Amino acid sequence: MRAILLGPPGAGKGTQAARLAKRFRVPHISTGDYLRRHVAEGTALGREAEPYIAQGVLVPDALVIQMTHERLQEPDAREGFVLDGFPRTRGQAEALAEFAAIDHVVHLFLDPADLIKRSTGRRVCPACDAVYHTFLNPPKEKGQCDDCGSALIQREDDREDVVRRRIEVYEVESEPITAFYEEQELLRDVYGSGLVVEVSERLLSSLES
Ligand code: AP5
Repeated sequence: MRAILLGPPGAGKGTQAARLAKRFRVPHISTGDYLRRHVAEGTALGREAEPYIAQGVLVPDALVIQMTHERLQEPDAREGFVLDGFPRTRGQAEALAEFAAIDHVVHLFLDPADLIKRSTGRRVCPACDAVYHTFLNPPKEKGQCDDCGSALIQREDDREDVVRRRIEVYEVESEPITAFYEEQELLRDVYGSGLVVEVSERLLSSLES
């Protein structure tokens, strides 16, 4: 299972990537989560990436490609992985093709109004990266992670103005790479609306088609 989940902000990539990775016992590799961790830890990469993330624009290719390349060389990624949020530009897609073979590319899509509703209501666990939504996908205890009990937080780039910017950036810079994978006959379009389990079923069926 060497899979990529593409799609606009809030489409459900992180939610579905985590479920897919668990099912196939491979790591869930989210460039957004890794970058936010670097920012929280104040590393050189985090300091460089922070202003881009805060504005809702893409972190430069060279930084993200190197980070992902290094992560994919770790032993747990040898048997497979689910990539979430990478690649996001043609340059990233071409670089990835140089260092990893890909079996499946899933493009999750959703109506724009739903993207904004999902992103602005999102709450995340800063300790284990679990993702919730205040009313669409709430934790069992309000404000508390089901998996590790940590207090949930709102991402700074989930303010509505930044979410709108991220969607625009996606449409201009990332949406076109679906064509790159369509040419290779790897792309599957999956509608991201409905219950989390329903989207998972749709996604799994798409992998078999
Ligand atoms: P990143 O963290 O990758 O954010 P994103 O792509 O904008 O995607 P999101 O995390 O917003 O949404 P998602 O599709 O994962 O949805 P989720 O499952 O959380 O990137 C953040 C920033 O980092 C970028 O702006 C950029 O600056 C930088 N960056 C990252 N990667 C980069 C790269 N490769 N190159 C350059 N820069 C990069 O779901 C959303 C909400 O909906 C949640 O609350 C969830 O609980 C809920 N939900 C999900 N599914 C359902 C459902 N079926 N029903 C109801 N609710 C649902």
